[in-house]
Amino acid sequence: MCGIVGYVGPQEALGVVLEGLRRLEYRGYDSAGVAVRIGDPAAGGELATARRAGKLANLEKALAGQPLPPSTIGIGHTRWATHGGPTDRNAHPHLSTDARVAVVHNGIIENFAALREEFEARGIEFGSDTDTEVAAHLLAAAYDDLPAGPDRFAEAMRAVSRRLEGAFTLVATHADEPHTVVAARRNSPLVVGVGQTADGVPEYFLGSDVAAFIAHTREARELGQDQVVEIHRERGLTVTDFAGTVVEPTAYTVDWDAAAAEKGGHDWFMLKEIAEQPQAIADTLLGRIGDAGELVLDEVRLSDQELRDIDKIFVVSCGTSFHAGLIAKYAVEHWTRIPVEVEVASEFRYRDPVLDRSTLVIVISQSGETMDTLMALRHARAQEARTLAICNVNGSTIPRESDAVLYTRAGPEIAVASTKSFLAQIVACYLVGLFLAQVRGVKYADEVGAIVEDLRRLPEAVSEVLLQMEPVRALGRSLASAGTILFLGRHVAYPVALEGALKLKELAYIHAEGFAAGELKHGPIALIEQGTPVVVVVPSPRARESVHGKVVSNIQEVRARGARTIVIAEQGDDDVVPYADHIIRVPRTPTLLAPVVTTVPLQVLACEIADTRGHDVDQPRNLAKSVTVE
Ligand code: F6R
Repeated sequence: MCGIVGYVGPQEALGVVLEGLRRLEYRGYDSAGVAVRIGDPAAGGELATARRAGKLANLEKALAGQPLPPSTIGIGHTRWATHGGPTDRNAHPHLSTDARVAVVHNGIIENFAALREEFEARGIEFGSDTDTEVAAHLLAAAYDDLPAGPDRFAEAMRAVSRRLEGAFTLVATHADEPHTVVAARRNSPLVVGVGQTADGVPEYFLGSDVAAFIAHTREARELGQDQVVEIHRERGLTVTDFAGTVVEPTAYTVDWDAAAAEKGGHDWFMLKEIAEQPQAIADTLLGRIGDAGELVLDEVRLSDQELRDIDKIFVVSCGTSFHAGLIAKYAVEHWTRIPVEVEVASEFRYRDPVLDRSTLVIVISQSGETMDTLMALRHARAQEARTLAICNVNGSTIPRESDAVLYTRAGPEIAVASTKSFLAQIVACYLVGLFLAQVRGVKYADEVGAIVEDLRRLPEAVSEVLLQMEPVRALGRSLASAGTILFLGRHVAYPVALEGALKLKELAYIHAEGFAAGELKHGPIALIEQGTPVVVVVPSPRARESVHGKVVSNIQEVRARGARTIVIAEQGDDDVVPYADHIIRVPRTPTLLAPVVTTVPLQVLACEIADTRGHDVDQPRNLAKSVTVE
């Protein structure tokens, strides 16, 4: 949510900053803006800025007509609006009254109203409706109050950070600081890139995530909570806490390169990421299965005794990651016999859940930065529960604050709608469930081995589904003018139906609802009119008890009331044929693992419908990839 870039180095800053913003635009696209410091480094300088409402392309167009003067220091921002509408006036960077300080911000400054009143009482007029602008005024004032010296700008940022409440990443440049960009972070992401040009000149980058600088360097530094960082042309990188104590940031090398964050010939990032799903699953399994088919999860830093002591599991997450948790529940309970509760993170901590040292709280987050999930994690830790993060972004806040972590290895996910990270999350949950069953001895080694073999076949099964997507795309085109589409599923297919509906809502802006098929008769069936499309995800005929037969009855019930039925069923399931207006076939897959394959056509369907309706599939309206506000 909001993408932030900063640069200090020998290159033309504007180009570097705009390229970074292009790669971060998935974090928010309500407006974009840049600021560069211009003028002789020895003499006083000034700031040049440009800001535009709407997508980054609007800003780029404006800059093409009216370029900024050359500079080697710059900051940039792509916004997901919170305080103040998505207008030019509210676009970042925000400037101090004397226009000597420019600030970009991600997060919410909770005490901004009191701070704003303070400034207004002193006669300072605000140029925006944002919470951010107070930070620019505070920073200018703090800077002016400090004596000249090498640490002046960073100390001013520390002083400001100590006054702010809420969540913030702030990145700032000052007209009187020709070599420096400073930044602060609390509860909001920021990473540093350390690189050098081809002729060996050092350069430094700041970004909301590593995508901001991946085209220049893979060497990154992780920043902790409540830290201030200065990047300086000669002094390099200095990190302190808010009190000024120097801290050593953790260094790491990003394990993907710029090519991984390109569309690679696909029309949309989403299509590329859907196509990458077999690899994402295979990579998530890689190295986690021993020679004898046993699970080897060394990263799960919980002792066997701690795992044996667990008597209850909560899975806590948001959106698509929440659906991964719902799917996990079926497998984990079945394999471990431990009760599993799945809950959206934004509700979890407010209802006082019963947690203790024998509770395992699994938090699932692609980004590792979702504020609701982070707050739920902190609540769980405060109650002494064991915590395990399933996460796709190395070094992000959620895994850093968890007792244990299992990384999904889906690679960078740029499209706002989660696809490959979702399948990788489900697979990671299976690994955790099986690992628990193995450690606790509730499954024999050969039983674990047999399920592991099924897991190993999943990449191939998903590839098989992907080869048959042309009819699904054609179906999608035919559904593009639907007003409502309903999704039904039972047992493990129920969360898949929820995910299918979510994908359609967020991409195609069509009213869609997912229902447990059995709930239909208790109300939702009244929604069905002549021709209403109803997508039914059918569990395997080998699924638990008579669940398959019940779903076949549900298809008949909706069809009898005029629904156009679109049925996702495994190869060879002929029972559905008489009642399906369209059948999408998926390979036979063991009951509990089936969501990994049945989800894929729903992703393709939503993507195609959105594309046909002329929407930006990768950047749906009102959304942002990483939701870093509560
Ligand atoms: C939907 C989607 C969102 C995210 C949710 C959680 O396609 O992407 O619903 O799943 O915002 O995000 P993470 O997994 O980053 O915590």
